[in-house]
Amino acid sequence: MANVVVLGAQWGDEGKAKITDLLADEADVVVRCQGGCNAGHTVKHGDDVFKFHLVPSGMLYGDTQCIIGNGTVINPQVLLNEIEALQGKGYNTRNLKLSNRAHLTLPFHTDLDQAQESALAEKKIGTTGRGIGPTYMDKVGRYGLRIGDLYESEAVLRERLTQILDIKTPLLEKCYPHLPKYTVEELLAWCQSFAQKLAPYVADTVALVHEALDKKQSILFEGAQGTLLDVDYGTYPFVTSSNATAGGACTGSGIGPTQIDRVIGVMKAYTTRVGEGPFPTELNDEVGKQLLEVGQEFGTTTGRPRRCGWFDAVIAKYSVQVNGLDGLAITKLDVFDGMSELKICTAYRNRETGEMINQFPSQLRALQNVEPVYESWPGWQSSLQDARRYEDLPVQAQRYLGRISELIGCRLSIISVGPERNQTILLENPIKGGKRTLQSAETVIA
Ligand code: IMP
Repeated sequence: MANVVVLGAQWGDEGKAKITDLLADEADVVVRCQGGCNAGHTVKHGDDVFKFHLVPSGMLYGDTQCIIGNGTVINPQVLLNEIEALQGKGYNTRNLKLSNRAHLTLPFHTDLDQAQESALAEKKIGTTGRGIGPTYMDKVGRYGLRIGDLYESEAVLRERLTQILDIKTPLLEKCYPHLPKYTVEELLAWCQSFAQKLAPYVADTVALVHEALDKKQSILFEGAQGTLLDVDYGTYPFVTSSNATAGGACTGSGIGPTQIDRVIGVMKAYTTRVGEGPFPTELNDEVGKQLLEVGQEFGTTTGRPRRCGWFDAVIAKYSVQVNGLDGLAITKLDVFDGMSELKICTAYRNRETGEMINQFPSQLRALQNVEPVYESWPGWQSSLQDARRYEDLPVQAQRYLGRISELIGCRLSIISVGPERNQTILLENPIKGGKRTLQSAETVIA
């Protein structure tokens, strides 16, 4: 059994939760490693549909240990709401553990996120408004509050909150005088109200992860957001504030790279993005509208319509590189049912000079100045929703997938043809498949 990272290989919303939920069946432990309640992971089980923001997508398996790792940022009310919703439907939540090293999103972080976005006006990032950036900013600035701090003595907690407010209050008052002001005593009461409710879940999760490794249990590391939203590799500054790439699985959970056996990148068969920022294959036409409507492309956390476009092999190949992907999970292939023509962006062209660009540009201005170079592929007229084996797919779908795999240099592992668990073609099971050395990077080409 292998330790597998499942991450988003585009701009988030790739369908990671379905893939994680599917593989969690075989895993002993599932770990959320980064991000916070900006994430929206939809998991379906029979008639139950959950939109998880913080708890790992393996929560529906009562005996799978679920861990919210140290790399995450926690809005405690959101977490408690999710726990209550699960309990209300009879699901076991005793299998959930929250890292004592994770950082808390304090009330002023959310206020600040929203105020900064308003101040940026048309230059805004289009954040989810959940306080994610300000929480990570304070973590890196070394004046964040960690879950473990909630369990210090009242005197120690009061001293820590005083230090934090001594730094934050003058800045907030100067820049955003209209925002609510918080006293040490108010924040202390806020902390104390959550400390007790969260207590059954709080643990040193680094130790838990290593216990699992020692027992040779298999661990699934669940990414949030996507590679192109990663603070280092994404379309900076139109990114989130954490490492959504494979490295984030290590720093966000307390393991080293040698303990990861496989890295599976989840990609939609097309591309979407929410929020602002460059998107070379974006379609502002009828096809874009069709993808939005058929794919039901609305943000899980904010309800915003997602921007839609053709599959971009330049970003997908870059994702393979920066994550060391050795397997692809392609989702929402069925959204193309009935379309006569499909396009794949194989390269970019500089709009001014005509220069061909094959490597994903690091600078925003360069990216804003490219146009996609497309290859055209025939679509199919039948429905894919009942396909359960690769051979069940029409030859046009096989060719489309094969071309993607070939262009980006990564094998296909999983193909999703609908929202249900069973609407999946499992070409290999990465968890059962074992160590990386047993896998080759061969492509599946029809
Ligand atoms: P933040 O993470 O709320 O700071 O938002 C920064 C950017 O990341 C914005 O463009 C958001 O729309 C985007 N983003 C954050 N979380 C997600 C997600 O789970 N899926 C897709 N986009 C996200």
